[in-house]
Amino acid sequence: MASTAKDVVIRQALLEDFEAVLSIGEMYGGRDYLKTLYLPLLENKDTYAVVATIQDVVVGFSMTTTFDGGLTVMRRASRVHEKFRGLGIFHMMKEELEKYTREFRPQVKYETLANTNKVDHLADRFLQSGFQSIYRRGIMPVMVRPPYPLCSTESSATEPAQVVDVKQLTHQDLSLLFQSEERSPRVFPRRRLFNFFLGYRLMDANIQNILCDGGGGFYSLRRRSDISTEHSQVNGAAQTHNNSEKSSNQFSTHSPIQQDINKGLDPESVNHVAMVTFFFCYRTLTGIVCYVDVYSEPHVSSDHLREHLRHNLLNLQRLFPGQDGRLTLAFDLHISKDLIITSLDGFGVRDVLLGQEQFQVLYERIRES
Ligand SMILES: CC(C)(COP(=O)(O)OP(=O)(O)OC[C@H]1O[C@@H](n2cnc3c(N)ncnc32)[C@H](O)[C@@H]1OP(=O)(O)O)[C@@H](O)C(=O)NCCC(=O)NCCS
Repeated sequence: MASTAKDVVIRQALLEDFEAVLSIGEMYGGRDYLKTLYLPLLENKDTYAVVATIQDVVVGFSMTTTFDGGLTVMRRASRVHEKFRGLGIFHMMKEELEKYTREFRPQVKYETLANTNKVDHLADRFLQSGFQSIYRRGIMPVMVRPPYPLCSTESSATEPAQVVDVKQLTHQDLSLLFQSEERSPRVFPRRRLFNFFLGYRLMDANIQNILCDGGGGFYSLRRRSDISTEHSQVNGAAQTHNNSEKSSNQFSTHSPIQQDINKGLDPESVNHVAMVTFFFCYRTLTGIVCYVDVYSEPHVSSDHLREHLRHNLLNLQRLFPGQDGRLTLAFDLHISKDLIITSLDGFGVRDVLLGQEQFQVLYERIRES
């Protein structure tokens, strides 16, 4: 006899449900992270997860995580077994999660959800239910197959001091960067991160989710040669003079940027961060997946992008030596996709996956109290 909504029981997901939840099937086009993250997420106090069962067999899973120090909630990783779709199981799980948030997370003020252009047809529905589209970024999935030619550092720089120096972000670096960007955003134009389909306010409470097992970040500082006339002209002729005057002061011998970078960021050098990339890598049922989220101030030289990509590919090689994988790059729309393709091509990464998503969109709504 066919199952109906009446047969469905929703209950809190347990660690022991791991195998049963995975057996619902591989989701999200080969990027499903539950195999790696199920246990840590369920043990995380900011996560609440439910399963849907029919006659004690797990047929659905969904969860919420709170971010931003408890201000924001997001539903993630939802899935219903193919055979049981269309019965309203997703809605039943959503209701249970909502009930939990109302009861046990009364401080939550915002609700976010992330989607790609593949489900653009649902956008009107999200907007009608009070969500606003607050951040849209380009995405590009590529296949990576080591070995890559990563050793040579080509640069248009004429002096060694002008080579782009890419450093790993520490907790303290990111905290300083958040403070600086919150005051005057340059690298994070929306005063947000939208990494790995998760939206974060620039708050210290989120750093543990970003610099974590499998995840981290890199930054590079503006060089003297990055202060180009091209940059100044964008702000109009009147500012050209001011900017170049300011620039020559900032980058005079009194401000040795390379020296600063060796110490990590400080309240002065943080204002010269030109590019930041975040990575998050994990194993799925079918292979290695890595997300690299790129942020930069406008008009930064392509040297930065190339060096950041090189560091991220090296990192991928270090984490999963010799293994093929799927890399998804996400970037603000002022960063040229062609430039990303050309830069990757220099490392032998040419296999852009066609017919995949091109944009990711972060939606947010204020919750009714
Ligand atoms: C999306 C999915 C969980 C729906 O499960 P389901 O039990 O068949 O869903 P229901 O019967 O409760 O209702 C379907 C609803 O899901 C909505 N939906 C479908 N895809 C969605 C998505 N990516 N994001 C949000 N809602 C979605 C539909 O619009 C429909 O809403 P409506 O009833 O208000 O018209 C299921 O199709 C699935 O597992 N898909 C693969 C995994 C996936 O894409 N998950 C993304 C969900 S966030």
